[in-house]
Amino acid sequence: MAKAEIIDGKAFAAGLRARIGAEVKALGGAHGLTPGVAVVLVGDDPASQVYVRNKSRQAQDTGMQSFIHRLPADTSQDALLVQIDQLNRDPAVNGILVQLPLPDQIDEAAVLGALDPAKDVDGFHPMNVGRLVSGADGTVPCTPLGCLMLLKDRLDSLAGLKALVVGRSNIVGKPMASLLLRESCTITIAHSRTRDLAGECRQADILVAAVGQPEMVKGDWIKPGATVIDVGINRIDAGGGKTRIVGDVDFAEAVKTAGAITPVPGGVGPMTIACLLLNTLSAACRQHDLPAPTV
Ligand code: GUN
Repeated sequence: MAKAEIIDGKAFAAGLRARIGAEVKALGGAHGLTPGVAVVLVGDDPASQVYVRNKSRQAQDTGMQSFIHRLPADTSQDALLVQIDQLNRDPAVNGILVQLPLPDQIDEAAVLGALDPAKDVDGFHPMNVGRLVSGADGTVPCTPLGCLMLLKDRLDSLAGLKALVVGRSNIVGKPMASLLLRESCTITIAHSRTRDLAGECRQADILVAAVGQPEMVKGDWIKPGATVIDVGINRIDAGGGKTRIVGDVDFAEAVKTAGAITPVPGGVGPMTIACLLLNTLSAACRQHDLPAPTV
């Protein structure tokens, strides 16, 4: 039985981080500049703690400065806005990331709108969202950017391909669809109200699953030869008191039909942080009127 190529996001991300590290070193040598990223974490969500630690460690590994700001879960919106204002003004900080989700007392849109768009390395500020949709240069959200890099590495051209994005979040689904449209794909966004999701999937040359539902996309929903990008990171009960991480796609079945597929873990996940570092490097270059990195 045919078996899909496994898209090794872990290796791709390691290569990208190495190239970013070389550019950071060159930037320090030529201009005495060390890019800095500030990560703001409100509350003590365990998964967010892990992400923030990993972001910080990998930033330091590439030679960047990393600043973590941990704020208590009951932080007021005003206090968070004061913190963001300080980071907007801090010349050592080229990129700011506010870890989402935020506690209920804080209005996410107000916080994202308060970021300096030039330092918004998540690409969530309305200015960057608008730039992406209108096709102008701006910061592109990290996870969709990582997915696009993997797709471009695998496919010679995306133009004219039918792409289905399952999930309509602001973090992944919507920006992913905009990026694929920019690559001249014919795009469909499916979501919880979509009729005949299986039928939509079966038409897709490119399928991006970003719904947060463990193994929801079944193997017989995959078009033969399709490229499948699984953004899901779901922890499920593996029996015997253990858990394991699975994606939004039933990998064991989909791998028999797809042309290529990202595994979970080791697919999209590592690309997200690598793209955060890339966005930080790009932001630092732009802020100093230097050419964008070529990595
Ligand atoms: N929470 C889940 N994904 C993300 C992300 O890409 N950026 C931020 N800031 N928070 C997240």
